[in-house]
Amino acid sequence: MTTFRIAPSILSADFARLGEEVRNVVTAGADIIHFDVMDNHYVPNLTIGPLVCEAIRPHVQVPIDVHLMVKPVDRIIPDFAKAGANIITFHPEASEHLDRSLQLIRDNGCKAGLVFNPGTPLHYLEHVMDKIDIILIMSVNPGFGGQSFIAQALKKIAEARRMIDASGRDIMLEVDGGIKIDNIAAAAAAGADTFVAGSAIFGKPDYKAVIDAMRAELAKTVAKTVAN
Ligand code: DX5
Ligand code: ZN
Repeated sequence: MTTFRIAPSILSADFARLGEEVRNVVTAGADIIHFDVMDNHYVPNLTIGPLVCEAIRPHVQVPIDVHLMVKPVDRIIPDFAKAGANIITFHPEASEHLDRSLQLIRDNGCKAGLVFNPGTPLHYLEHVMDKIDIILIMSVNPGFGGQSFIAQALKKIAEARRMIDASGRDIMLEVDGGIKIDNIAAAAAAGADTFVAGSAIFGKPDYKAVIDAMRAELAKTVAKTVAN
């Protein structure tokens, strides 16, 4: 049976109280902490780096999933691994040498993956599938929290699911952008197993209520699949 993982994005957290925020969201049921790194170059926004990753690391036991929206990517990979990242993903357009960047992440002891913008084709995966631990499908254009879900992403999730199944490898399929209680089931039905949600969780007063409601939606998807 599919293991579903909820990965709150700290982009929408209160940065003045980040330690408390990550502890609270894990207590509320988060499986992963999603960590958005933006450089004001690859994307038009600037966020957080390895120092902040290192600062939150002692506060939580769950994996930290570093989503690099930076160009170039290689220089910063070892720094995030040292700062306690468990998963590092990057956008194929941001690296000159995909295979090398993926290998660098793995050599640094982390799980490696590629991130696909709404307009980016999945063909980048073709020759590097053996080095992929996670595929991240963006359902918004990267750079900001709180944007609306782009429904076209569902087709791409389904396509990525087919590629994963054909590979026979254990690869996580994550979706990021505009995920809410009312569309998480559609993303799961398309084949996603890991769900990033920023504003849907950190924007709300009761993190557990949102995460519980998301899990209830995911359970319905499973029930429907079994019934069919
Ligand atoms: C966007 C980031 C997302 C973002 C998601 O570039 O990669 O992780 O924080 O935020 P929401 O869930 O609010 O769309
Ligand atoms: Zn992200």
